[in-house]
Amino acid sequence: MKLIDGKQIAKDIVTELTEEVAKIEGPKPCIAFIRVGEDPASVSYVRSKNRTAEKIGIKPLLFELPESITQAELIKKVDELNADPEVHGILIQSPLPSQLDEQEAFNRIHPNKDVDGFHVQNAGRVVQEDPNGFASCTPAGIIEICQREGISLEGKHVVVIGRSLIVGKTFALLAMQKGPHANATVTVCHSRTRNLPEVVKSGDVVVAAIGRPNFVTADMVKEGAVVIDVGINRVEDPSKKNGYRLVGDVDFAAVEPLASRITPVPGGVGPMTVAMLMKNTFKAYKLQSSS
Ligand code: GUN
Repeated sequence: MKLIDGKQIAKDIVTELTEEVAKIEGPKPCIAFIRVGEDPASVSYVRSKNRTAEKIGIKPLLFELPESITQAELIKKVDELNADPEVHGILIQSPLPSQLDEQEAFNRIHPNKDVDGFHVQNAGRVVQEDPNGFASCTPAGIIEICQREGISLEGKHVVVIGRSLIVGKTFALLAMQKGPHANATVTVCHSRTRNLPEVVKSGDVVVAAIGRPNFVTADMVKEGAVVIDVGINRVEDPSKKNGYRLVGDVDFAAVEPLASRITPVPGGVGPMTVAMLMKNTFKAYKLQSSS
């Protein structure tokens, strides 16, 4: 089938992890979520991660800190969780209120508990191809999709649109790694790229992570390309009860007929992020249990 069902792949991962966790005798893996303030999107994301953890048998701990918290108070909480041997993974939900230094907080998490893969040391471990590192969940999820769907990146020209640390840049690093999951020739396009449509058109695989609705149009895509859409953009839609609908960075209706495989939005890459977070948490548990 042309459409890549990320929701089903994420479900399969959850089922596999549930089976693995059930085999554990004694204390189960545990992930601590830190959420600061009441940003509705963050409340909803953390609730969904919490629910998936529970389903798998991973113990979730939720720390809801007030909007007005200081950096020192946030760091104190991270330090407590770093020191707690029963906590295997720590996640600070982003974005944080403006008085807080987000990257400093991410870097305070013990790198072996950094299941989001946002610590500077884990960025370095991705560069060094260290198998004990944690790669950020969305790009790791795209690699997982390709592996499970039999989409080989080997020798292919992979064009990534977007250079964010969390998606574009990290995906580019993963796709160019040595190994059967990767071995791609990678080009990263961004807002300053000249002749972007031409560059994208030379891609055997196109990964759109630019955060602009319907940015990738049919004229930019080579016939037979694999198209991975990481965008989650709200566009107004008065016909919907909540007044909006979600669209990706790819003009799906126009690009789908050209693509050999394509991820939809929603239901493509999105569900993989939480699944990979759980996979990272299980990996953190295993690493900490064997050391
Ligand atoms: N905010 C949006 N996506 C993410 C994510 O993957 N991890 C964290 N910690 N915050 C986010």
